[in-house]
Amino acid sequence: MKKTVKFGLIGCGLMAREFASAAARWCHFTCDVPRPEIIGICSPVEAETKWFLDNFDGIKYCVSDYRELLEKDDIEAVYCAVPHNLHEQFYVDIINSGKALLGEKPFGIDKDANDRIMSAVRTNPGSFVRCSSEFPYYPAMQTMIKWIREGRIGRIIEVKAGFCHSSDMDLNKPINWKRMKKFNGEYGCLGDLGIHTQHVPFRMGFIPKSVYAIMSDIVTERPDGKGGRAVCDTFDNAVLNCIAEDRDGNEFPMILETKRMDPGSTNRWYFEIYGVDCSAKFTSDDPGAFCYTASWGKEQAWSRINIGYKPMLPTITGGIFEFGFVDAIQQQLGAFMLEYTGAEVPFGLFTAEETHMSHVLATAALRSHYNKTVENLEF
Ligand SMILES: NC(=O)c1ccc[n+]([C@@H]2O[C@H](COP(=O)([O-])OP(=O)(O)OC[C@H]3O[C@@H](n4cnc5c(N)ncnc54)[C@H](O)[C@@H]3O)[C@@H](O)[C@H]2O)c1
Repeated sequence: MKKTVKFGLIGCGLMAREFASAAARWCHFTCDVPRPEIIGICSPVEAETKWFLDNFDGIKYCVSDYRELLEKDDIEAVYCAVPHNLHEQFYVDIINSGKALLGEKPFGIDKDANDRIMSAVRTNPGSFVRCSSEFPYYPAMQTMIKWIREGRIGRIIEVKAGFCHSSDMDLNKPINWKRMKKFNGEYGCLGDLGIHTQHVPFRMGFIPKSVYAIMSDIVTERPDGKGGRAVCDTFDNAVLNCIAEDRDGNEFPMILETKRMDPGSTNRWYFEIYGVDCSAKFTSDDPGAFCYTASWGKEQAWSRINIGYKPMLPTITGGIFEFGFVDAIQQQLGAFMLEYTGAEVPFGLFTAEETHMSHVLATAALRSHYNKTVENLEF
């Protein structure tokens, strides 16, 4: 049997259910990946715990105060998926408790909160802390990452990455915490979606040196779900125009977009890189496909390979089948388990240090937007 690591889940919402579902089908892996075993859950809303209790026999602790889970010696690691205004206190307490943390983005509602989380990381040098970002685990994206690392792109001309939704195009969609500054943070869509766009560039060494940001607050009010109206004070869309530098010191434009109002996009995560030798693209709208240019003399042709189900961590699924969001979540969780237990993985999760870079970028983006300035970045 695979080694297990006992987990507590803090927050029992959308993402905690995805975590638990991925953990429940660990037999999917054919390689030796330690299994997350959920023994504790925490939510202040009792109704949210029912699905977990109905589906997971091993839950010993079901609590409404997360500190009770942190006192349990048999819980080794915590997945924490709660609104952004709670990240700072919860993550600091988890790190100080000595348990490993897989936390959700943005790792603090703002840079001050992230600074305090980073200070807990520094005062606990043995702590293992990672931030969730699952999209790079699509096999077609992993192929692109491999090509970038192999230097096949040549001198970079431009990078574009984005995460775009359209459910907010429905102006009758009731407000929730993700559309309120006091819970979601001043960054708005950028805090919610930004880390997803930054994981690959940061890890590939594409570091933004400056940013000029355009942020849009298009919908300022929404139904409150109780027959009235509520203020919707978060930014809906953000376009970050950065000058980035590669590892050889060459500068290139890098455009990072995060949008909740992107007509036609459901949950479109994409990454595009344009280079002198080769260009390549991936979009979750066409999840099996890896697109790249082949040169025909002076001309370039876009080629499309269907990569199929060839994930970073091998599984039982046949290579001709299709890979999707739930598979990406499980691959990321598998990578977390391996990194936590000391194994190397080809592409690791977003680190605490990278969340710091993300907050420096997002805070500069806000300044840039308000002042209409180009902001230089120091990490
Ligand atoms: N990785 C991804 O793709 C992805 C997608 C969506 C959301 N997220 C992130 O996940 C986190 C949670 O988002 P979600 O979509 O699951 O939200 P959600 O609203 O579905 O769930 C939030 C949970 O937090 C719980 N909670 C609130 N106050 C609490 C408290 N005091 N103690 C314990 N639990 C409490 C709620 O009861 C709920 O169960 C956020 O940080 C969000 O940015 C990540």
